[in-house]
Amino acid sequence: MTKIGLFFGTDSGTTRLIGKKIATKLGAELVDKPLNINRVTVDDLLKYQVLILGTATYGEGDLPGTENDVKSGSWLDFIPQLEGVDFSGKMIALYGVGNQEKYGDRFVNGMGKLFDIFKAKGATIIGSWDTDGYTFTSSDAVVDNKFVGLALDNKSQKIDTESRLDRWVAMMKPQFEAALEDIM
Ligand SMILES: Cc1cc2nc3c(=O)[nH]c(=O)nc-3n(C[C@H](O)[C@H](O)[C@H](O)COP(=O)(O)O)c2cc1C
Repeated sequence: MTKIGLFFGTDSGTTRLIGKKIATKLGAELVDKPLNINRVTVDDLLKYQVLILGTATYGEGDLPGTENDVKSGSWLDFIPQLEGVDFSGKMIALYGVGNQEKYGDRFVNGMGKLFDIFKAKGATIIGSWDTDGYTFTSSDAVVDNKFVGLALDNKSQKIDTESRLDRWVAMMKPQFEAALEDIM
């Protein structure tokens, strides 16, 4: 059966951990093994019609990558390879991991970058998320008063991570199943 591809960009591993949790909660029959974006090719992404893309935020509210001191490389190193690649017809759900207490003026901005990049390439972005319960002053990942995907803060609101994951997965699972049905 066609499955969902899950790709993440991380430095210290939180975004990997969250990706694994999402995959486990959705179930192995729905999602393939989460993969670090620093070890895949563009074709690995294009194999999938439905994707979950996750990122941490580094630098000045940027995606992770070698230019932001992520030694093994990440989204910033991968994105240039997407030049001219079309994601029309693909459905993408996003999650972003950040720290609103320390970086409240650019909370989970990296997720906002992924939104802009993949939307411009024609993808349909699904899974927007209420900002209720978060405390931040500004975020590029907020569009029309909602986060463009699941926002998580495993540093200053770690206590909420599990319940947010459960609620997001419960909200998304029927949408993912319907999208995969359509493809088959
Ligand atoms: C140098 C540095 C810059 C950061 N910049 C931001 C930021 O702009 N916005 C944000 O929400 N979080 C920011 N963070 C927090 C990380 O995104 C957060 O700790 C995240 O959990 C790291 O994920 P990872 O373990 O997958 O690398 C920053 C962290 C560091 C160390």
